[in-house]
Formats: sequence, structure tokens, C-alpha cells
Amino acid sequence: MEDTHTLRAQIKYETERKGPPEGFPQFPDLPGKRYTDPRFYELEKQHLWRTSWLFAGHLDEIPAPGCFKVWDTAGQPVVILHTRSGEVRAFYNTCRHRGAPLVREPHGKADRFICGYHGWTYNQDGELIGLRDQRDFVNLDVSCRSLYPVRLERLGKLLFANFDPNARPLADEFAPLLPQWEQFQFDRLRFVHKDSFTLHCNWKIAMEANMEVYHVRSIHPQTVARLLDHRGNVNTLYPGGHGRMISPLIVQNHTETAEIADDRPDIDTVGEIARTSVLSFNMVPNLVSPMNEKGLPIFAFWPTSINTTTLELWWFGADWGNAPKPRSWDSYIEYFNMIVAEDMQFGDGIQQGVESYAFGGVPLNYQEARLYHWHQSVDQIIGIEHIPPELRVVPVIESGWISQT
Ligand code: FES
Ligand SMILES: [Fe+2]
Repeated sequence: MEDTHTLRAQIKYETERKGPPEGFPQFPDLPGKRYTDPRFYELEKQHLWRTSWLFAGHLDEIPAPGCFKVWDTAGQPVVILHTRSGEVRAFYNTCRHRGAPLVREPHGKADRFICGYHGWTYNQDGELIGLRDQRDFVNLDVSCRSLYPVRLERLGKLLFANFDPNARPLADEFAPLLPQWEQFQFDRLRFVHKDSFTLHCNWKIAMEANMEVYHVRSIHPQTVARLLDHRGNVNTLYPGGHGRMISPLIVQNHTETAEIADDRPDIDTVGEIARTSVLSFNMVPNLVSPMNEKGLPIFAFWPTSINTTTLELWWFGADWGNAPKPRSWDSYIEYFNMIVAEDMQFGDGIQQGVESYAFGGVPLNYQEARLYHWHQSVDQIIGIEHIPPELRVVPVIESGWISQT
């Protein structure tokens, strides 16, 4: 991450500027049909969800060798397994005989997987090692009937899956972000809590409520608006459509904020910017994560149809050792969920709006640049030639506005 001095200077610049920086592009309207056109939804499915690194959970869910969990949030049947050798692997949860699910409980522990339909048996490498009545198969080459693998890579204890066998490595995808994330020690973060919310809007509408601070004064007057100064917000755009915001916290008046001792431990390596700002990252396709010295939530927005979404809200915290989970986590999450409810209040109304006869395009401003960058980058990922012209985003953000580090 840039040094504190540089970032402080950027915050000062943003606070004092009278307009966007010299030469910053005007954004043509985002086509509103990107939220409603079934063709675009299908393109996302084929070219975005199928090729991107997707957040698949946390090692604490499968803590010991032999532990597995079913992961179907991305709409594909997957089993994720902590193997005896200590690796984490993923397979389609689909028997190579006639496609029955191998694992039917959401979590469990097993040395091998035995299909409940006709008993085909697979080891932890996914190899077919047992076949009932093999004499009845003519020339079946067992070595070609291993479970279909799914790519699985980790950032510390955070698990990411990819359905594209040829996807570039996870570490390449997030290369500019990895050095900034080191301070949070992803390999030591503990699973704290997870909530799921059903939202009645396109997944991008829900996600975009968490990718700008332009809305803060309107929908969070009593909460976020009192904590951060949105005018000082610094947006940074990264290759691949990822982004970051740094919004300075307002120094609190201690007589006003009831002082309740926070018993959550700190991640001691976290630097000053993350302690004095809201430092939030957005990752293509569907993640938002504001990180600080106590840990981080990961918001993951999953389409369940073109106009419904599941929001998974995961919480990970600094290791609290052998003590019980710090009690402040519960009160903090309760407070945070109130803010999430404020953010989500417009979802179904916006969905009705973008589906209406009249709705055309979305004029985005400089503060909303991460949204435009996301859409522009996603068109690249989908392949511009696949997208009907009226649904494309004009790529006006040139490389000079994108940070390589
Ligand atoms: S479908 Fe699994 S053994 Fe037949
Ligand atoms: Fe918000």
C-alpha cells in the first residue's frame, strides 16, 4: 500500500477539490438493461461466473483432515475437502456414474466418498477406487472416471474456487492487492459469524450500494455519516475491475459515543490508514470487504435469478486464542446489520425502477468511478464482441487512471 503520507495527501486533495481531477472522463450512461436483460444475465453466467475466482468460504469450516463441506452458492454442486495431506481440494459433487450427488449432508468428515446410488467409491484425490459388479462394464477405464475437479486456491484461510480450469492463478488476479492485505494476516483470521439475506433486486444493484460513499449523507444520516467524511474519499481502480476506497473516519467526540469496552483483539500488524479510515476493497465479480484492525466482513452477492440475490455476510476476526469468542463481536455485528439494512432499503424499489418502461441509463459521477470501472472491466471479461451493442459500456477509463500497484 502507498505510504501513509501519500494517502493523507490524497485524502486532503479529495476533500478540497472543486471538481474531478483534470482530464477525468465524463461517463456515458450505463445501459439500464444491464440489470434487467436476460441476455446480459446469461452472458454473466457463461463468461463471468464461470471464469472468475469466487469466494467459497473459510478453512475453519473444514478444520481437520477429512472434513468436507458442500458449496453450492455459485449454483454449481461442489464439495470442498480438507485432505489428509493438509491441502484443500474441490470437486463437483457429482458421481461419474449417473450423476448422483456424492455428499448429501452440508458438512461432514470422511476418508472416502461412497455414492449412495450404486456405491461407486472415490478417494480424497477424487479417484474412482471402488466399483460394484465391475464385470458388468465392458472395458470401463476406471482411471478416466475420477471426480471432475474444481480449481481451489487459498489466501491464507480464505478459500476461492474457479470453474475455469485455465483461469490464471488467484495470486495473479489479486496481485496489486496482496501486498496491501498482508497486514491483515489472512492466514490467522478466525471465522466469527455468517448471515444470509434474500434481496429482491439484481445482484449488481445490491452490490453497488456498497461501492460508493455518495449515498452516505442520505441513507445513513445517523450512522455512517457520523463516522466518516465522504468528501475525503479516495477511490483507487485496479486492473481486472477491482477497486479500493479509503474514507477518513471523523474523530469521535468521546462524550457522545457511549464507551463500551471492545474486547475484540487487534491484528497488531494493521497499519495506520486501516485504523483511521474505512478501507474497503471490491473484488470482481461479487465481493466487498471493509478491513480494519479487528478483522473484516466479506460481503458476497450471489444472483439467485435475474432479480433476486442472496447476500452472504461473512465475518472474520483476529484470533482470540483459547478464550470464548469476544462478546463485542455480537454487538458490533448487530450494529453493522442495521447499516446493511439501511443500504439495502432501496433494492426492490430500484429493481422496479430499472424494469419500468421509462428507465434508460445511469449517469455516474466521479465518486462512483468504481462502479463504472467494474462495468467497463466486466465487459472485457465477458468479451465485448459477445455483448449486444446496446448493452455495452463505453470504455472511457483509460489505463492512466488505473493503478498497477
Ligand atoms: S450414480 Fe453414483 S454409483 Fe451410480
Ligand atoms: Fe452504505
